[in-house]
Amino acid sequence: LRWAFNSGQWQPTMEQFVTALSMIQQEERKKVSGYLFKRDVKSALTGRLMIRAAVRKALSLKNVDIKLQRTDNGRPFLEQTSGTNSNFDFNISHQDELVVLASEFHGRIGVDTMAIDRPIGSKSLDKFFETMKRQFKMNEWKFIKSAPCDKSKLFNFLRLWCMKESYVKALGDGIGFQLSRIE
Ligand SMILES: CC(C)(COP(=O)(O)OP(=O)(O)OC[C@H]1O[C@@H](n2cnc3c(N)ncnc32)[C@H](O)[C@@H]1OP(=O)(O)O)[C@@H](O)C(=O)NCCC(=O)NCCS
Repeated sequence: LRWAFNSGQWQPTMEQFVTALSMIQQEERKKVSGYLFKRDVKSALTGRLMIRAAVRKALSLKNVDIKLQRTDNGRPFLEQTSGTNSNFDFNISHQDELVVLASEFHGRIGVDTMAIDRPIGSKSLDKFFETMKRQFKMNEWKFIKSAPCDKSKLFNFLRLWCMKESYVKALGDGIGFQLSRIE
């Protein structure tokens, strides 16, 4: 599955929101409710609902039978209960209101998303790239800088960044993983 959902367009009533919240596990409910901003609460909840919807669709499980766990590094996975014996894997990413999910029946998957309209601060693009120099290999920089304008260069940069992050997220290692190790 490859899903993207704009949680900003979801405007639940209080009753719908409470129902949605009741569909996820208790420990996740606590986490979701802990976010300060309504926008983050909604996108965190959306991500968890998308995972459940994906598992239901792929493995024909009832929501109540879906037990999710997290690795020590925080990566969610499906608990192998008596009814499930599968290699189904999934991963989500959220930025602002956009929530994405990718899943595979066999093998690991990771996904990442990033806003492309985010300014890079007061730095020039060249200075920004300089600070990121070690994250990419020479041929990757060649690809990034081959774009005709700054906007496209930044787009290429973010595209490669997301691909590397996705790979790290498939492995599940977390932030300790040096992106420059992946080409
Ligand atoms: C995973 C990680 C790379 C995500 O970074 P991000 O780009 O800020 O966030 P994204 O929106 O792309 O992804 C977040 C989602 O990925 C999933 N996720 C969390 N940890 C993950 C991991 N280690 N690997 C893969 N996916 C992970 C979760 O579903 C999470 O959603 P949630 O926060 O709503 O639960 C980052 O949070 C990280 O490195 N965490 C690991 C921390 C760690 O190593 N801790 C060790 C104990 S100290």
